[in-house]
Amino acid sequence: MKNFILILQEKIEKAFEECGYDKQYGKVINSNRLDLCEFQCDGALMAAKQYKKAPFIIAEEVVEKCKNNKEFEKIEVVKPGFINIDVSKEFITTYCNQIINEEKFGCNMEKDKTVVIDYGGPNIAKPLHVGHLRPAIIGESVKRIHKFFGNRVIGDVHLGDWGLQMGLVIEELKFRHPDWPYFNENFDGEYPKEALFTVSDLEEIYPCASSKTKVSENATEEEKIKANEFKENARKNTAYLQEKKKGYYDLWKKIVEISVKDLKENYKKLDVEFDLWLGESDSQKYVKQMVEKMQKLGIIYESNGAMVVDVQEPTDTTEINPCMVLKTGGVSCYQTTDLATIMQRQIDFDPNEIIYVVDKRQELHFIQVFRCARKSEIIDKDAKLTFLGFGTMNGKDGKPFKTRNGGVMRLETLIKEINEKVYEKMNETKEIEDKEKREISEIVGLAALKYADLSNQISKDYIFDIDKFTSFDGKTGPYILYTLVRIKSILNKFNETSSIKENRILEPTEDIEKQILLKIAKYSQVLEESYLENAPSKICIYLYELANIFNSYYQKVKILQGASEKLDSNIVLLTLLKRIFENGINLLGFKAPEKM
Ligand code: ARG
Repeated sequence: MKNFILILQEKIEKAFEECGYDKQYGKVINSNRLDLCEFQCDGALMAAKQYKKAPFIIAEEVVEKCKNNKEFEKIEVVKPGFINIDVSKEFITTYCNQIINEEKFGCNMEKDKTVVIDYGGPNIAKPLHVGHLRPAIIGESVKRIHKFFGNRVIGDVHLGDWGLQMGLVIEELKFRHPDWPYFNENFDGEYPKEALFTVSDLEEIYPCASSKTKVSENATEEEKIKANEFKENARKNTAYLQEKKKGYYDLWKKIVEISVKDLKENYKKLDVEFDLWLGESDSQKYVKQMVEKMQKLGIIYESNGAMVVDVQEPTDTTEINPCMVLKTGGVSCYQTTDLATIMQRQIDFDPNEIIYVVDKRQELHFIQVFRCARKSEIIDKDAKLTFLGFGTMNGKDGKPFKTRNGGVMRLETLIKEINEKVYEKMNETKEIEDKEKREISEIVGLAALKYADLSNQISKDYIFDIDKFTSFDGKTGPYILYTLVRIKSILNKFNETSSIKENRILEPTEDIEKQILLKIAKYSQVLEESYLENAPSKICIYLYELANIFNSYYQKVKILQGASEKLDSNIVLLTLLKRIFENGINLLGFKAPEKM
């Protein structure tokens, strides 16, 4: 099925051609002044240059050709040569009646593209904090949108489990528990089945270890030496780990096991799901092969003990440093694991695209990695590598979001605060029991959080404003849900006593009804744009506009009254709206409660 606007455009293109002009000038866009017209075409202004003719005359010729088309209710020229269009009620109604039977709302599907989406990116032994919110929320939505369009999609959490932070945690554990069998070279028994530590222990250990590597400016010589020693040991531990040295590797496995279990629970609370739980460490087995490939191609060389590949390109306006493939001593670093992971994904999935949902401050890293991957031919030359860099969630002071006492806020705490806020708001509703209110506020709270995040352009920073996000009015998740719940309750009321006879929408009699139909017809266009541009924000805006129109309709039209044919038509319309809202929020990654 074609998008409504495209069908319309084809008619205008044809008219341009019939008047002897190139059809490229027949482009139709949605009007942003609905008080003037529904659609517009500005092509005559552009055509004027090529044909050396006044735009107004060109537009008039084109309009003349369309005058008798039954698709248009109004088509007119406005100075200096705009073509303003209103479509006929019949045209829009017929189109919407077709959507009723379209499972995908008339979207044009992709055919079996394989897409790997790398999102989440939590680090082992560190708690999930607000910084992990955006990749999870955005990645989940982008993944769902790609799945909707029929792609084979693989979401990979890509755990940070192989870097220096692991060496630091191990060093601190060794300092606290030198007696543990993991650190005894001569130990040849079985390591403990049950972990000797909890997630909370780990969460306290990492910052402690990390602080031991830092010294203040006026530190004594002794303190400096101590810090250096600690860091050096952590580095050694990391190298041992990467060699899978007995004891170290076993301890690491336990740390990963405990952390992953906790991470899974946390992501579940966010309704975020991964197909793969691989980590940086899983790429280690490809490192040797990858480096050999680079050697064969003659692109890798030694520089200050490290192994690097040049990635500067002649068109660069700034200097791009060589990509470090291995650190001194052959130790893997962040670039190593990302490169080897590309190789792994190529071998395992032969993807058409890999999308990275990562903090935009890591852009340079990915420029280096992508270029190096192409140069070393570890990725198919036609595969796309996409960096979807996101901005920071800031506090009201414009700085990265912190707790009241300046610490990094844990994700759990943030979610609790939002749920609590929604619960407070719901307290005004007397009819719902307290226990249910709690459950509903969890659903609505998550929607508030996700909608607030996704309604921004991905690359932009945004300000976390709990009062604004949880408001039941305005561009918020709760407002969208409130509207959907309203639609559902009307439908339930109808379904309790009757059923529809004919599954079709009648031509609108009120202006507001036509506006709803126009909005419905736009859905497939919005979905396609949000897919092609990886932009869930387009769905957010659309749902907000649709909710606004529906709520005006609800004020004006007695939905459950009137002649039976009209009543049926209203119910069919509401059922379609419900389907669109449910589909939209599902693509954004949240659900609606039954009541609120
Ligand atoms: N763990 C990384 C971090 O905390 C994010 C990982 C992003 N994904 C990737 N393939 N590098 O910064």
